Amino acid sequence: MAFSTISGIAILGAGLFVGEAYLPALATLGSISPSLKAVYSRSEKSSSETAQNATRILGLPSSPDIYFDGDHPNNLDGLLRRPDIAAVIIALPITIQPNIVMKCLLAGKHVLSEKPVAPDVARGLKLLRDAEPICQQGGLVWRVAENFETEPVYRAAGEAVRSGKIGNVLFFKASVVNYIDKTSKWYKTPWRTVPDYQGGFLLDGGVHTIAALRTILPESFTHLSGFASLNKEYLLPHDTIHCVVRAGSSYHGIVEMTFASPTKSIPASENIVITGSKGWLACNSTSEGFKMVIKFVEEMSKSGEEKEYKEEEKIMLFPGKGVETELAAFFDDIVTQGTGKSALDVGNPRNALKDVAFIEAALNSKGNLIDLVGLVQASS
Ligand SMILES: *[C@@H]1O[C@H](CO)[C@@H](O)[C@H](O)[C@H]1NC(C)=O
Ligand SMILES: *[C@@H]1O[C@H](CO)[C@@H](O)[C@H](O)[C@H]1NC(C)=O
Repeated sequence: MAFSTISGIAILGAGLFVGEAYLPALATLGSISPSLKAVYSRSEKSSSETAQNATRILGLPSSPDIYFDGDHPNNLDGLLRRPDIAAVIIALPITIQPNIVMKCLLAGKHVLSEKPVAPDVARGLKLLRDAEPICQQGGLVWRVAENFETEPVYRAAGEAVRSGKIGNVLFFKASVVNYIDKTSKWYKTPWRTVPDYQGGFLLDGGVHTIAALRTILPESFTHLSGFASLNKEYLLPHDTIHCVVRAGSSYHGIVEMTFASPTKSIPASENIVITGSKGWLACNSTSEGFKMVIKFVEEMSKSGEEKEYKEEEKIMLFPGKGVETELAAFFDDIVTQGTGKSALDVGNPRNALKDVAFIEAALNSKGNLIDLVGLVQASS
């Protein structure tokens, strides 16, 4: 599939993730990728630096045009007026994204916007209410870039679970332990240093883990009870959550997430483990990508007699390809729209809102049981 039928694209944002993830991923897609025609950032300096980096990383014959804030034709409105730009990739600070998503959709552009979909459920619901009719009327694609949802390891884990490799799901756990000090490049991003949104790193990073879990588990989360705390004062407002969660009608699990590890070395533990009636499946990140391990035992023989206990193991390694896959899925969705061919079903803003709801519930629960389904249906 060549996406070059999409006239052109623009990147809105000049942060770390653009340089370290989006540009290399677009480069991997190579000539099938639509051409990058413009870059926007709030300042002229970062916009032009990103355009230079894009030229180098993508091997472009000429630099994309630069756009930045101010009262001049090369501001964001100027970019959005260009008919040769069909789609935008938005990677801007969390709290300003919802308004920019709306602005781009109203200008008739297809949108891929960074996770989280919004800083909180209330603003997420409002954005969905405003954006969905515009997408429908204008035939526009809006997806949320959640690269854990497209990561091959989690998709393979989901397929393994749904195909019954570990039997019926009984319980699960996710454990994320991070060390962040004030010299971390992520911490030094100004909008992350003093966040104006709930949860700090827990929202920004935590939605990934929840998205991975929802990609693997066959049923949605329904209820949560948890506690949140702040253990390193520079990680305001919270850096740690622990919760007990129910999914579907029959199974449950635990989720722990902290950015407050006192040491860079973390206690040995699997990232994600799904346990079923016949075995378990674990996903771990490694220095080269991801590893999935499945262990399962032989079932009883047909006559109902217990067979000799025999454990099988399957180990699979996966490269990290989430960003590249989500970009391809976004372009594919634009190209196949209305043709009846279905693109990879990822990046649905309603699902991305469920990830935000999970973190919001964990931050506010204080041990009380929260109805996660009701939370994303609230009408205000
Ligand atoms: C451009 O690339 C250089 C070299 O990799 C990097 O140090 C710099 O931060 C990048 N600039 C932007 C705005 O991404
Ligand atoms: C996952 O990584 C942890 C920490 O390095 C390690 O203790 C564990 O054995 C790994 N699990 C698998 C299945 O590779």
